[in-house]
Parts: sequence; structure tokens; C-alpha cells
Amino acid sequence: MLVLGIETSCDETGAALYDTQRGLLGHTLHSQVNMHREYGGVVPELASRDHIRRVLPLTRQLFRESNVSLEAVDAIAYTQGPGLAGALLTGAGFSSALAFGHNLPVLNIHHLEGHLLSPFLSDPAPDFPFIALLVSGGHTQLMQVNGIGQYRLLGETVDDAAGEAFDKTAKLLGLNYPGGKLLAELAAQGQAGRFRLPRPMLNSHDLNFSFSGLKTAAALLINRHEANNQIRADIAFAFEDAITDVLVRKSLTALSATGLKQLVVAGGVGANSRLRQKLLHHLTKISVTVFFPELEFCTDNGAMIALAGALRLQQLNKLPGTNGSFTVKARWNLEDLPQ
Ligand code: KG4
Ligand code: ZN
Repeated sequence: MLVLGIETSCDETGAALYDTQRGLLGHTLHSQVNMHREYGGVVPELASRDHIRRVLPLTRQLFRESNVSLEAVDAIAYTQGPGLAGALLTGAGFSSALAFGHNLPVLNIHHLEGHLLSPFLSDPAPDFPFIALLVSGGHTQLMQVNGIGQYRLLGETVDDAAGEAFDKTAKLLGLNYPGGKLLAELAAQGQAGRFRLPRPMLNSHDLNFSFSGLKTAAALLINRHEANNQIRADIAFAFEDAITDVLVRKSLTALSATGLKQLVVAGGVGANSRLRQKLLHHLTKISVTVFFPELEFCTDNGAMIALAGALRLQQLNKLPGTNGSFTVKARWNLEDLPQ
């Protein structure tokens, strides 16, 4: 079964072809990050307009580069939510129209399910069940993944997402949007032990997170010191050290509470090398295997949507019909998905 996947939930337009026998046949991606940078964040209306401009050329390019024709496709999967409503509508409209025109079934995919299943794009892949640490610009969650559609929320952020905290603190440090990666680069020049920032909710006896206080503590530190380059790097180091400590500790607690021995790290912050190092350091000591999706599949992409669509398709007894209509879900609880 060959599935075309389309992702347009935020500021990346992605298209991909995933075959249940042969794996990923190809994927194309356009990031709008340069367009949004001058505004310091994603501008929803600009995002939608850009998806409209990009989605068809990117899909054509995908078929050309993968040497596949649309006639070979068995179903079209698109991100139905959660995300920016206008951005989602462009992918939903495009996918539904294409499917209707070619009489193909449509699969409505949850964006976070795409992230959760993204480690199956790499080899070796985990086995069910596993713990997933989902850390993106919009979400920070610990999930127990028992199978496709079987997701149990163990804990989540009560305020900012981890990526959001990285981006906001990066902005305070005078870095460009999205600042997570730039903050990490600055932190690499920082001195350990120069500053210490709080580890919020580390002892909260649950698996929830809170990052807005950490960002405020970083802001106070920035205001209190003359912001020369070394001090900025030292503050970046302290911030990264604190946030990664919390993410690692809560992941360890989730693993010991469930007795599971595999951890999957998904979402853009999963690209953070300090987080990766700390997880590897702690988890090898307790014989837990950690899976990181390849860097290009950590951030938003069409491949994870095509993959989720293909895995869903294999589970269905009856193919969904096509009538050309569509809806999107800007807010959508992962636990509400069909199993
Ligand atoms: O998963 P993703 O592409 O977007 C959402 O679906 O939200 O993740 C983007 C987030 C941004 O906040 C970005 O700053 C952060 O991931 N990010 C990083 C790194 N690379 C990307 N944060 C920390 N360290 C990095 N190396
Ligand atoms: Zn995402």
C-alpha cells in the first residue's frame, strides 16, 4: 500500500510517499522560517498563504524525484490537526480535492501521532509499548504508546512548551526566531556553574512540567547582568542545563513508574544535543534503549504523516470513502483518537 502524506499544520509544508513494503520512497519539505523571522514568530495568515503557494509544486517535485506516478497511490493522508486552522485547511483542501479527483480514500492524521510514530522511519525502530517524550514548539508531553492509536498521557506542560521556552529565552538573549537551535549553539560556549537556574516541578511527584518560570528566571538574570557575549553564553548554558535536567528526570520517572525499557524522543527539541547526551548517559546505566528520530524527522515533515497514514491504513477493515468534504481540528486531544 502506497500513501501520499501532506503536512501543513504550522510553518512547514511537507509531502512524502510511504510504502508499507518498501518504506519511505521520498519526501519534500519547505520551511517558512525565513519568512516568519522578521516578525519574531509564526504569522498564521502568512503561513496559510505560503502553504497554498508551496503544496502543489512540492507534491509534483516529490513524485518526480521518487519516480512514482499518482496512479500508484492507494490513499492520501493529511494532518487534520492540531495546529493553525488556516494552515491546516490548505493541506486538508488540497488532499481532499486530489483524493476526490482520483477516487482515493483520505486518512485524517493527528499531527502528534505523526511525531510519536516518527521513530519507525529509522532503523532500528522501537517495539510497542514504549514511552515517548514529545518536545516541540507547541507541545511537551510524556506518553505511554502501547500500539497505534493507543496513547496514554502520563504528563504534560502546564504552561509553555519546551520549544516555546527555548524560543522565548533565545529572544531575551537577542537571538533570532526560532531560537532553540541558536540558543544551543550559544550555550556550547558557556561556562558550567557560572549561573544556576531553577528546575521547575522537579519534585512535584507527577509527570507534569512548567517552563514559564524558568524563562522568567532567565529574564531576571539577563536584566541583572551586563549582557556581554560570555555572560549571554553562560546564561544560555544555565537555561539549557536546567530545562534538559527536568526533561531527563521526568522521563526517568515515567520509565521507572511503567517499567518500560524504551524511550522515544520526538519533536523539534529532540534535536538538542545536550538533551541527547544526558539521556544517553542516564539511560544506558539502567539498560533503557533510547530512540531519536533522524534530525530531519524530528521537526515537522510530511514523512511522519505518510507513515502514520500507512500504519493506520493497514489497521482498517474497510477503506474510508471519498466525497470531497473535509474538516480540520485546530485543537484535538491525542487520547480521543480511534484505536
Ligand atoms: O516539532 P517542531 O518542528 O514544531 C512544532 O511542531 O512545534 O519543533 C520546533 C521547536 C522550536 O521551538 C525550535 O526552537 C526547537 O524545536 N528546536 C530546538 C533545537 N532545534 C529545534 N530546541 C533546542 N535545541 C535545538 N537544537
Ligand atoms: Zn510538530
